[in-house]
Amino acid sequence: MTVPDAPGRPVLRSGTWFDGSGKAGSVVRTHMLQAGFAPEDLAGKPVVGILSTWSEATPCNAGLRDLAERVARGVLAEGGIPLEAPVMSLGEPLMRPTTMLYRNLLSIEVEEVARANPFDALVLLGGCDKTVPGLLMGAASVDLPSVVVTTGPMLSGSVCGRPAGSGTDLWRVLEERRADRATDADVALVERGLSRSTGHCMTMGTASTMACLTEALGLQLPGGTAAVAVGADRSRLAAASGGLAVAMARDGGPRPSELLTREAFENALIVLAAIGGSTNAVLHLLALAGRCGVPLDLDDVDRLARDVPVLLDVAPSGSGLMADVEAAGGVPALLGRLLPLLHAGASTVSGATVGEIAAAASLHDQSVIRPLDRPVAAPGGLAVLRGSLAPGGAVIKVASASPALLQHTGPAWVFDQVEDYLAAAADPADDPPDDVVVVVRGAGPRGWPGMPEIGNLPIPVRLLERGVRDVVRVCDGRMSGTAYGTVVLHVAPESAAGGPLALVRNGDLVRLDVRGRRLDLLVDEAELEVRRRATPAAPVSTERGWTGLHRRHVLQADRGADLDFLVGASGSEVPRAPF
Ligand code: FES
Repeated sequence: MTVPDAPGRPVLRSGTWFDGSGKAGSVVRTHMLQAGFAPEDLAGKPVVGILSTWSEATPCNAGLRDLAERVARGVLAEGGIPLEAPVMSLGEPLMRPTTMLYRNLLSIEVEEVARANPFDALVLLGGCDKTVPGLLMGAASVDLPSVVVTTGPMLSGSVCGRPAGSGTDLWRVLEERRADRATDADVALVERGLSRSTGHCMTMGTASTMACLTEALGLQLPGGTAAVAVGADRSRLAAASGGLAVAMARDGGPRPSELLTREAFENALIVLAAIGGSTNAVLHLLALAGRCGVPLDLDDVDRLARDVPVLLDVAPSGSGLMADVEAAGGVPALLGRLLPLLHAGASTVSGATVGEIAAAASLHDQSVIRPLDRPVAAPGGLAVLRGSLAPGGAVIKVASASPALLQHTGPAWVFDQVEDYLAAAADPADDPPDDVVVVVRGAGPRGWPGMPEIGNLPIPVRLLERGVRDVVRVCDGRMSGTAYGTVVLHVAPESAAGGPLALVRNGDLVRLDVRGRRLDLLVDEAELEVRRRATPAAPVSTERGWTGLHRRHVLQADRGADLDFLVGASGSEVPRAPF
């Protein structure tokens, strides 16, 4: 057993591997020597597991191999042992059917890899949308001291000399192409100019949002979000995080359970509102809170967002890109703006409180990180709706919606499969009225499965011809954080779980009342009961493999779409074979 190197410091967990007697200890030691470590390395040096989601199939995470080396240097410099371990990579652009199907699988892998190996602390490397949530959830469940290093945003896009933002500018040109106001060559120019380096999408999509929230939650070093992926600052942040992990291993904390408190989640929700962040983050925060045993629900999301204006001028809610946020002072400067609303005493991995980080921050550009009294968008940029169509709740990104549609009643145009809607929307023979409410169901956590990002459904071509650029869309799926439009998402319960969304028929009136936080189906309860009886319950999945497991155990969107048997934490204790 490793002797503590200072009174009160915990015995290193790795020592129970390296100091074992008999066969078990010898096998461990000989293979650590095989890995190039010296016998003295195994005598009390903390082991830092570097869990990386690097993959060539995740182009935006391609820089993580280099960052892992920087982390390792930082670990060595502080007298630790770095052990890099790959974990599942979730590449948003390439993976099918949707990365969200695998977020929980990544979290299981992180939890089990961390528990099964002699790690005293973790550095978690991720960047693409679902990687950071999966890493956080796994770390929370194994509860080893952990620090996150995100990939950082890629270089800003550039199309014909003009700045262009990930996702957002591509969606725009594709809509213009559908309306015959752009050419294939225009689309090709955007495709080529949008993704110019490694790093995550540099608009306020899910990746940027989750990086901001990780910093707000206290699990990433101050300034760790916005430093560009290919910059020297990020290399230094990675090395510093490696060194920090060694100190955390020696001190035995802080552990995720000490940082991810109710106050930290409230801070994160306030930051989510202030950055005009992705709706996907709501799912991820709810799921993460579930792992931590912190009570958090959709009402908290709505309550905290109501008073927080959008302060960050970044697309799609604003006009800038993440490089502008870095130049303006990054998340620490934003925390400074928000300090009157935040729990200033919340702890972070850095050792400083949120209040101390905010106080030390420098703000360089008031037009990018706005003051509370001169925001980009009014408070309530994110709203939670309830009503007869969404008894479990639904979310809408008000900041990216059309103001004129936030109070709207219109006839439903209903589709059980998104493919059918896409065909109808592209068919000039289908001519819905201008006030149509598009309803697409079967896209929830269980139904599709994995809640694909289909919510930003294209506007029907006949409406585009008439100059209509936005309609109310309602679905039980998700939407890319870089998308925009009046889209009601995450309707719970989903249709495949027997939610009222399954009962809507063409022509039914649907009322969206964002001011009143309602989403209602204007059909008599008696008629709905008739329809309910005529609608057979979806059979329990008998599929094999991961998809079957997911479908049988996934919770609804209002619980973060975690799996029911993953809620909570198991800690880092692991049995030893008795030999
Ligand atoms: Fe990975 Fe956008 S594609 S963050």
